[in-house]
Amino acid sequence: MKNLNLVVLFLLIISGLACTDNTENLISGPDDGGEEPSGEVSYSNDVQPIFNGSCTSCHGSSGNVSLSSYSALMNSVGNSYGSNLVVAGNADGSGLVDKIEPNPDHGSRMPVGGSLTNSEIQTIRTWINEGAKNN
Ligand code: HEC
Repeated sequence: MKNLNLVVLFLLIISGLACTDNTENLISGPDDGGEEPSGEVSYSNDVQPIFNGSCTSCHGSSGNVSLSSYSALMNSVGNSYGSNLVVAGNADGSGLVDKIEPNPDHGSRMPVGGSLTNSEIQTIRTWINEGAKNN
C-alpha cells in the first residue's frame, strides 16, 4: 500500500513537470527571435504625423517633393533620386530614408536645420520595409 502511494505521488510530480514544460513552450515561443513588434506601422497614424510635424512646412502640396499625403509622397520625384524616393519593401534603397539619415548622397540631411529622432526614422524604415502601404 505504501509503495502504491509513492508511485501515485511520483506520477503526480511527473505530470506536474510535464504541464509546466508545456506552458513554458507556449509562452516563450514568440519572444525567442527578438523580432519587431507584430503590429504593422500605419501610414496615416504613424508616418504622416512625422511629416506634418517636421517636413510639410517646406514640402507642402506643390514642388518636386510633397509630403502632404500618401499619394503626394508616392508621386514625388525629387531632383536627385529620380523616382526612387520610396521603394516599397526596401528602406535602404529609398531616397526618402537616405535624406533623413546622416550624410545623404545628395544635398543636406532633412529636415533642414534639425533631424528626426531615431524612433521616427525607424518608424519610416519599418513602414517602407512592410511594403509602403496606404494603411
Ligand atoms: C526648412 C525647410 C525644409 C524642411 C523642414 C524639410 N526640407 Fe526637405 N528639402 C528642403 C530643401 C531646401 C531641399 C533641396 C536641397 C537639398 O536636397 O538639400 C529639400 C529636399 C528634399 C528632398 C529631395 C532630395 C532630392 O534632391 O531629390 C527630400 C526627399 C526631402 N527634402 C525630404 C524631407 C523630409 C522627409 C523632411 C522632414 C523630415 C524635410 N525634407 C524637411 C527644405 C526642407
